[in-house]
Amino acid sequence: MADPVQPATAGRQVRRVGIAGLGRYVPEKVLTNQDLEKLVDTSDEWIVQRTGIRERRIAADDQFTSTLAIEAAKQALDDAGMKGEELELVLCATVTGDQPFPSTACRLGLELGAKNAGGFDIAGACSGFVFASQVAINMVASGAYSKVLVVGAEVLSRILDYQDRNTCVLFGDGAGAAIYTPLEVAKRGEFIGGSISMEGGAEDILAQPGGGSRFPASPESIEKRLHFMKMGGTKVFRFAVRVFAGLVRKVVEQYGADEIGVIIPHQVNQRIIESAMEQVDLPMDLVFSNIDRYGNTSAASVPIALREAYDAGRMEKGKLVLMPAFGAGMAWGHLLLRW
Ligand code: UT7
Repeated sequence: MADPVQPATAGRQVRRVGIAGLGRYVPEKVLTNQDLEKLVDTSDEWIVQRTGIRERRIAADDQFTSTLAIEAAKQALDDAGMKGEELELVLCATVTGDQPFPSTACRLGLELGAKNAGGFDIAGACSGFVFASQVAINMVASGAYSKVLVVGAEVLSRILDYQDRNTCVLFGDGAGAAIYTPLEVAKRGEFIGGSISMEGGAEDILAQPGGGSRFPASPESIEKRLHFMKMGGTKVFRFAVRVFAGLVRKVVEQYGADEIGVIIPHQVNQRIIESAMEQVDLPMDLVFSNIDRYGNTSAASVPIALREAYDAGRMEKGKLVLMPAFGAGMAWGHLLLRW
């Protein structure tokens, strides 16, 4: 298992890498806690108190993960002043791709006119964007590619069981995107560290069990509702607080708390974020959170929040932007930028 805070590129980085463009997209349809009260035995009060979530977005029937990803990517391209055909690599972080294969990145590349790019998907669940970004950044750092798009996109509503109150209240749909280039082009958001970690054997804690080679689609898998997400919430809660606090603590030890401008964590649950911040003795006003409006959007949550934090003027020139992410696997990691 990798050291959870060892920068993936430490000592090996050839070119400095930054963020040239950011984008986000969420579907129009809003599903409120009150709406959920009509579907399962829950209450607005319970959901707000236990999670901080008030509403989440749900993809329309004719929207897929690629549809959401395309919108976020277009905004990132616009932000970077770049055309799709300039892209050299397209990575899509998702666990709810349009189909098991081909990759959603191939559809995304086609729709963006990225005719000179290669692409593939990365299934890192809630850590997907942070993992895919490090693949992209190291590709740019090595000199292999200079313009790489990373999109985190999910339509989780299609794998949620709206009979299961343990999961259906927590998640939503959306997409976020970032374009990585050499720093002299990007001029902001220099990558200075990251990590990718995992501890396996957690298929019964947080998973979509059905539809793969372990439980292929069958009348039995459908009857047992195995194609829907299953989760042991309390175990995930404890894991998330532990690894989130650990990642922040190591960055504070290395750089000092004063260097941190903003923490943009995976938008998992407001109580998890508060517990972790309390453990590391840092104030909540360092954190950017939008979980009240979108719930947990898995791989999309960090890049949606990244663009919104940017729009809200939360990036401070010269200060650190820390993005810890954690989820199914169990897997976790972080991205650290200097703005
Ligand atoms: O990206 C990672 C994805 N995973 C997550 O985001 C989940 C992380 N975990 C959590 O966010 C929390 O564990 C939950 C919000 C899922 C649950 O909060 P909790 O404080 O750990 O509650 P609990 O699981 O201990 O359940 C307490 C009670 C139970 O009832 P009993 O057994 O005490 O009678 C649950 O059945 O709350 C019940 N409950 C609900 N009640 C109303 C569970 N879900 C609901 C609900 N509405 N939606």
